[in-house]
Amino acid sequence: MKLWGGRFTKEENTAVHEFNESLSFDRRLYRQDIEGSIAHVRMLSKQGIVSEADRDAIIAGLEGILKDIEDGRLEFTKEHEDIHSFVEAHLTERIGEAGKRLHTGRSRNDQVALDMKLYCRERTDELAGLVKDLQRVLLGIMEEHLTTYMPGFTHLQKAQPVTLAHHVGAYFEMFERDRGRLSDLRKRMNLCPLGAGALAGTTYPLDREYTAGLLGFDGPTYNSMDSVSDRDYLIELLGALAIIAMHLSRFCEEIILWNSNEYRFVELDDAYSTGSSIMPQKKNPDIAELVRGKTGRVYGALMSLLTTMKGIPLAYNKDMQEDKEAAFDAIDTVKGCLKLFTGMISTVTFRKDAMAASAKNGFTNATDAADYLVNKGVPFRDAHGIVGQLVLRCIDRGIALDELSLEEYKAVSPVFEEDIYDAISLKTCVEKRTVTGAPGPAAMERAIRACRERLEDGSDGQR
Ligand code: ARG
Repeated sequence: MKLWGGRFTKEENTAVHEFNESLSFDRRLYRQDIEGSIAHVRMLSKQGIVSEADRDAIIAGLEGILKDIEDGRLEFTKEHEDIHSFVEAHLTERIGEAGKRLHTGRSRNDQVALDMKLYCRERTDELAGLVKDLQRVLLGIMEEHLTTYMPGFTHLQKAQPVTLAHHVGAYFEMFERDRGRLSDLRKRMNLCPLGAGALAGTTYPLDREYTAGLLGFDGPTYNSMDSVSDRDYLIELLGALAIIAMHLSRFCEEIILWNSNEYRFVELDDAYSTGSSIMPQKKNPDIAELVRGKTGRVYGALMSLLTTMKGIPLAYNKDMQEDKEAAFDAIDTVKGCLKLFTGMISTVTFRKDAMAASAKNGFTNATDAADYLVNKGVPFRDAHGIVGQLVLRCIDRGIALDELSLEEYKAVSPVFEEDIYDAISLKTCVEKRTVTGAPGPAAMERAIRACRERLEDGSDGQR
């Protein structure tokens, strides 16, 4: 069934129909399409463009179609080009003449722009909720592990001791910015394109503010040509999704490392690992690997749409139909990754002993040994050299700094006293780091309180 048969003399070729159609994927916009149409016809009748009787018939017809789709009674059959044609054809089949009045003052160009925005707005809220669920789990881990010592790394080399609370807190901040990005782009997205028509508005006295209000938008879009050809909101959403995926992927990479035989910092729950078909000893971190791997297709969606849009002249062009499959896939993928990652991280066991043991060797307290000398008046550069010599001795003998005798310390610098051992204990190294943002429990407790407030005060990650 064609919406545009009037001007054509030949039947459309099957291959052309199949190449051109979008119903096979835009069918998922059926609810948004119907909601938009109901708002549009309410406005048409308020403006005296459609009678109240026709309005009521159209609304009843659309609600019937919605119910039948949701109950599985109405199938998306292949003869329809897209979801908009599908709904309109069924409406007219059901209610007759009145159905043909629905498309007054509207084009599929502003209609599809509206449907996608409504869909993206819902998914944006859903995604922000999923990010928040993950942050709640992270905050729980942070509260529980204020004094779970572990090595902090730079260049993947042990650097200075931190705590698990602090390490996980870094991810909390990343996801907080993600939530902020989603709420920021949602604001920009929230303008209604309906009434822009094909590109140049319409000659009917539409009330665009009214339709925008009915659909929960902050107002109508400003320029009708931009309204039908803008996909920035979708690119922004895909950009935010790409960043979320990147954050999840980094976290997964760490979980995979921590789960390896060499680290053994974590034990993944059986439910989130899989075995090998040949090696009986294996317990593989497949879920973390898959979340890391799926990042590629999310980046792909962003690149795909940016590339599609780069050469499109104003206003609507059919190229834009290509926005959907990639966007739907990226949205589904990130939703899935967030849910699975949250499940995985909330069931992981952290092996405190292995983390502390790892922090104890590898000289993560070397900076603190140098700071000890500085506090006793030695210039930092000299202190750095002295501790370097001590580290060299330890490496030779395969021991840690706190295993050297006081005589050995004194042999390198007479400034060392018995209190060096306390000064370089893991506990002291961490506890002394109390500046804002540092891992010391006093600083972390303040940070956790602020995280909790930000999560629950409705600020949507905006600072
Ligand atoms: N299926 C189309 C899309 O997704 C709907 C808009 C079609 N408009 C048009 N003039 N052909 O972009």
